[in-house]
Amino acid sequence: MSSPCTLGRAGWRRIDRRVDPMIEHQGGPPSKPLTLADWQANASQYLTGGMSSSFRANQFTGVPFYATHARGPRIWDVTGKEYIDFFLCHGAVLLGHDEPAVRTAVQRSAEKGFYAGVDTIETIDLARKICELVPAAETIRFVNSGTEGTLLALRLARGVTGRDKVLRVDGHFHGIQDYLMANNLASKVDADNPGDRPSRPRGRTAGVPRVVEELTITVPWHNAELLETVLEQESGQVAAIIMNPIDYNNGVFVASPEYLHRVQALARKHGAVLIFDEVLCGFKTGPSCAQGYFGVTPDLCILGKALTNDVPLAVVAGSRTIMDKIMDPHDPVIAGGTYSGNQLGVAAGNAVLDMIGEPGFYEPFLTRAERFFSSLQELFDRFAFPAVVQSLGAGFHIYVGTREPITDYHGLARRDWELTRRFFSSCIDHGLYFHTDFTVSFAHDPHTLDEALERFEAVLSEFEVTRD
Ligand SMILES: Cc1ncc(COP(=O)(O)O)c(C=O)c1O
Repeated sequence: MSSPCTLGRAGWRRIDRRVDPMIEHQGGPPSKPLTLADWQANASQYLTGGMSSSFRANQFTGVPFYATHARGPRIWDVTGKEYIDFFLCHGAVLLGHDEPAVRTAVQRSAEKGFYAGVDTIETIDLARKICELVPAAETIRFVNSGTEGTLLALRLARGVTGRDKVLRVDGHFHGIQDYLMANNLASKVDADNPGDRPSRPRGRTAGVPRVVEELTITVPWHNAELLETVLEQESGQVAAIIMNPIDYNNGVFVASPEYLHRVQALARKHGAVLIFDEVLCGFKTGPSCAQGYFGVTPDLCILGKALTNDVPLAVVAGSRTIMDKIMDPHDPVIAGGTYSGNQLGVAAGNAVLDMIGEPGFYEPFLTRAERFFSSLQELFDRFAFPAVVQSLGAGFHIYVGTREPITDYHGLARRDWELTRRFFSSCIDHGLYFHTDFTVSFAHDPHTLDEALERFEAVLSEFEVTRD
């Protein structure tokens, strides 16, 4: 029997999207249309696991998405199926897919020559715009991804303080760098921690040396008392406190401004650098990001995703004193790379900030999103379906199996995971795409949102029939 592996590269080039290329190639009868699972099996011959990122297998169906194209609020998969997209590339597509202003800016940039490794007037222009909009940003550096950003932010904090340890929050995601891999999702929190001690490492990743973990102290979120105790115990050793002011990675968990102010005061008292990871939450509540929304300015922050509407680029921004450690003539923090400040990302960032920096951009957008969230909750209530919609700004979550809001990681135990999986799998079947974090984009116009509600209604009707 010829195995898929015997199909040469030429065979792949001839792939017919509607049929199974393996069976056709072997001269067999016309096959049934390929499913996404078939695509994963085929892709796995060459691409490890059939995906470019291990976060791509859908958390509800287990299968990755293979796209052909995406426009506005919609995305199409290789089987030809169309979806209203609420996943939006891990929350990066705040303006909608293929936003014309961003596309034009990227095309114009590419027409001037496709290059990295140098800066341009556009680079300086984008840096200026970020400094004007984001409170923490006195100066900035461009990096390529959120992971690279959190890595540089920690290095800067260590560089300016001369200390090694880092304090992070149980359950907060900061990309895939070694220092912050353990305890980086709600599924990996130290659930046994009653809140009176640092959390134990959970969900470590093979390949990360133990010695790295020893430099990271993890505390439960929203517990300023414990944070204070740990800072006192570790006196003079903590370089940085890093956290997500809004945790959209695990749903919608929102810090209180009082807590953030307290953390800021404690960081100052103990000489630690306060870092807000705004890679996911940045620009979701307004142009000044979560820090502007809460009125708490960190020493450093990391931006990405929505900054460029999904074109690769990220930013580390912060106080001049800290950022200038990069330029220390005697003992600099080294920061740089071939693609840092790549021109396509810069072009996209300029177009995005021109749009979202306009007065009047957010108000109608976020009002529309809020209306949709309330209508969705009403729909759940009308069907007596146990689900609660939680939101802040453009980010939202649907917790299934409970009617009460969930405000901390322990509360996640109230979800009904089996019902959650069935509900979202059915949403995906009905053309509503969900995966990790959920976002409504600017391109989700009233017509699209009404259509989404109709699709939700169809999903819920099925559940009602099942219940009856
Ligand atoms: C809060 C947060 N920080 C950092 C990252 C890492 O960003 P990237 O995927 O660009 O490396 C992510 C990605 O999802 C994120 O949500």
